[in-house]
Amino acid sequence: EKGRMLFAGETTFLKGVVAMDGLPPADRLEVCFAGRSNVGKSSLINALTGRRGLARASNTPGRTQEINYFERDHLYLVDLPGYGFANAPVAVVEKWQRLLKAYLSGRQTLRRAFVLIDSRHGIKAVDDEIMSLLDTSAVPFQVVLTKGDKVKAKDVEPMLNQVRTKLSKHPAAYPELVMTSSEKGDGIVTLRSIIAGLE
Ligand code: GTP
Ligand code: MG
Repeated sequence: EKGRMLFAGETTFLKGVVAMDGLPPADRLEVCFAGRSNVGKSSLINALTGRRGLARASNTPGRTQEINYFERDHLYLVDLPGYGFANAPVAVVEKWQRLLKAYLSGRQTLRRAFVLIDSRHGIKAVDDEIMSLLDTSAVPFQVVLTKGDKVKAKDVEPMLNQVRTKLSKHPAAYPELVMTSSEKGDGIVTLRSIIAGLE
């Protein structure tokens, strides 16, 4: 299976980027993981690559403050700083938000942005704003629902409906949603296959 093949090898940390001129050469396929602070971006990268401590995850919102590049053969996996709330000084947050927006709107080789949404919360105004930026930048994006292990079964369908309704207003959005739990491993194989299919 293609997804397994792509993710059979080792993923390594390449670099943390703090400014656009620090980005590695745009010479290969790239996917990124965007989302509100604490939504589970770094945890998802760890689950996808099968390496627990690869991307630093933490319960403190604002843990990831740089654009972190991970590489494996023909692919960059990019862990982004969160948007929305962050437990850091305003000036620092503003700097990395500017970088985040510059990256999302200006990276030529960015094939797909995965926008992570907490299964318990659905799409918030800040998510809508990022999605609009992706629309205008013509970056195709796909919603990945996170922390599926934390949502009550009866709340899943209403949340999915909210997400679908909001996504229908975003031309750059893929309609297919991926429900995941980095904790339990749900949806991880599916997501690997999606990424492998981009090659
Ligand atoms: P920032 O880098 O601060 O933007 O956060 P992030 O989006 O990278 O989130 P991170 O992966 O650091 O996870 C935040 C918290 O959520 C951590 O305490 C994780 O253990 C927890 N978490 C992430 N994914 C899951 C999940 O699938 N299930 C559960 N129960 N907890 C999760
Ligand atoms: Mg992070």
